[in-house]
This record gives sequence, structure tokens and C-alpha cells, in this order.
Amino acid sequence: MPTLEDYRHLSTGKVRDLYEVDDELLLMVASDRISAYDYVLPTPIPDKGRVLTAMSVFWFELLGDVVPNHVVSYDDPRIPDEVRGRALLVRKLQMLPVECVARGYLTGSGLTDYQRTGEVCGIALPPGLTEASMLPEPIFTPASKAEQGEHDENVSFDEVARTIGAPLAEKLRELSITLYERAAAHALTRSMLVADTKLEFGLLGDTIVLGDELVTPDSSRFWPSFGYRVGQVQPSFDKQYVRDWLTSPESGWDRHSGEQPPPLPDNVVGATRSRYIEAYQLISGRPFSSWIH
Ligand SMILES: Nc1ncnc2c1ncn2[C@@H]1O[C@H](COP(=O)(O)OP(=O)(O)O)[C@@H](O)[C@H]1O
Ligand SMILES: [Mg+2]
Repeated sequence: MPTLEDYRHLSTGKVRDLYEVDDELLLMVASDRISAYDYVLPTPIPDKGRVLTAMSVFWFELLGDVVPNHVVSYDDPRIPDEVRGRALLVRKLQMLPVECVARGYLTGSGLTDYQRTGEVCGIALPPGLTEASMLPEPIFTPASKAEQGEHDENVSFDEVARTIGAPLAEKLRELSITLYERAAAHALTRSMLVADTKLEFGLLGDTIVLGDELVTPDSSRFWPSFGYRVGQVQPSFDKQYVRDWLTSPESGWDRHSGEQPPPLPDNVVGATRSRYIEAYQLISGRPFSSWIH
């Protein structure tokens, strides 16, 4: 049985570590790290890596008819025991340098851009939209992949077309919207809105392949449909407890101080862990206890 030491470590992102298995395959390992307010917190959330992996697998299976994806296996002898359940064996792709964001609702950087210019990524939107407004139809709002520690920057479709060519850019737009619509329609049957989602595609020869993670709380905004109210910031489904505690006097932390956030108390860790598991079970309809442990 292989161990992680047998594979060459390629990179460590905010949440995931990549290892090289052979010339064609990578091991993508999701950690239990959690970020908030642009900091990776010092306290991990137990099982978060497993939940994100299980959720991605659910969506890769559900949406597998839309576009080929990079998943080879989530349960394979080449996956070391120490990371089983939170690692995917994937095809190594030549990643395209664009964060493919699809939005059905207006919030975050999309809302900021709209309020300044009436547009998001060069797409003109009707007047009168506000926080959490549903858009007339889902839009493709690509972002450039920022260097580590920097913010992704929204770019126009034309800029993407200049970078990777118009035919490929058009294909990514079409796939992103279709994947978003399909995921949002499914989530709605489980009383969840998917406000937006970020996808990453790569090439395998000439074939466009969906990579990375898929419609997880880290890559998407989930809003419980029953609590949805236009005109106000919707509570973050997964990080609500973490954010509330970090900004409360109890934490003693000032998010604008430039200092690292403090360790999370056990009750915040527990509540957050439950939230992640709840999201997975709700959306997939599968008990988390039956996922690989
Ligand atoms: N099939 C793949 N082949 C090559 N690289 C991939 C593949 N799938 C995902 N990646 C890359 O692996 C990294 C995942 O790590 P992550 O922690 O999510 O990084 P980030 O901090 O950039 O979000 C990303 O840089 C992503 O582009
Ligand atoms: Mg990522």
C-alpha cells in the first residue's frame, strides 16, 4: 500500500494539496483547513476535507453527462489510507487560467461591480437590482486566477477570449452556465439556493475536462431557500458560526488589524462541522456515515 511519502508533492493551496502519482495522474487531497475573511484559520474543522470530497463526487456523478471530468477514483488502492475519503485520484490536466464563475444571484464582487458600473464582467444588468437579487438569467462572470494571497479579479468575456481564444472561451461559458443551472435546479429540490459557483476547467489534449472541486461550500454560495430575502446579506450556510464568533467581542480579534485570527473554541468547531455534514446530506440525500471513513 502506498503512503503519501511515495508521491511527489506538487503544491499546497489554501485548502488542497496536490501530489503526482504518475505522468497522467494526480492525487488531490482536501485538508480540514477553513478560511474566513481571507485568513486560513489556525483551527481545522474535523471531517471538512471528507465532506468537500464526498460532495464533489456527488456532483461529478450527477453532472457527468454535461462534460467529462477529471475524477478517476475516490476509492482506489493508489490512494493512501491516511487520506482515504478526502482524496481524489484525478487526471492531470493542463488547467486553463480562468476561474469560471456562474451566478444566478447578485452578491459579493458581482454586486460591488454592478453598483459602480451597472455591469458585471461587461454584462449590462437591469437597473434596480440589490443585494441577493435573482438575475433575469444566470450569467458567466469569469475571473483571472490570482497569484497566491491575492484576490481573484473579475474580467470581461472578451478578455478571456483574448487569453485562450474565442471558441474555447465560448465553450467554457456555455458549460459553466449549464453546470450551474443543473446544480441549482437539483439544490432547489433540497431547499437550497446556489447563488453562484466557481468552476475550473483544463485540457486533456483537445478535450475540455472539468477539474478541481464541484459545487462545494468552498466554491459556491449556498443559501437555505426558506430564509431567502432579497435586499439583505444572506447568512453564510457553512461559515456563519465562524464569522459570527470571529467578529464578536469574545474572540478579541479585529479583522482589520492585520493580525492572524485566534483559535476557534470547541463549540464553534462542532457547530461548523455539523453544518458541513448537514449540507452534504441535504444535497446528496446520502448519509455521511456511509461515506469512506
Ligand atoms: N485535474 C487537475 N490537474 C491539475 N491541476 C488541478 C486539477 N484539478 C485542480 N487543480 C488545481 O489544484 C489546485 C487545488 O488546490 P486549492 O487548495 O483549491 O488551490 P487554491 O488555493 O488555488 O484554490 C488548484 O490550483 C487547481 O487549479
Ligand atoms: Mg481552490
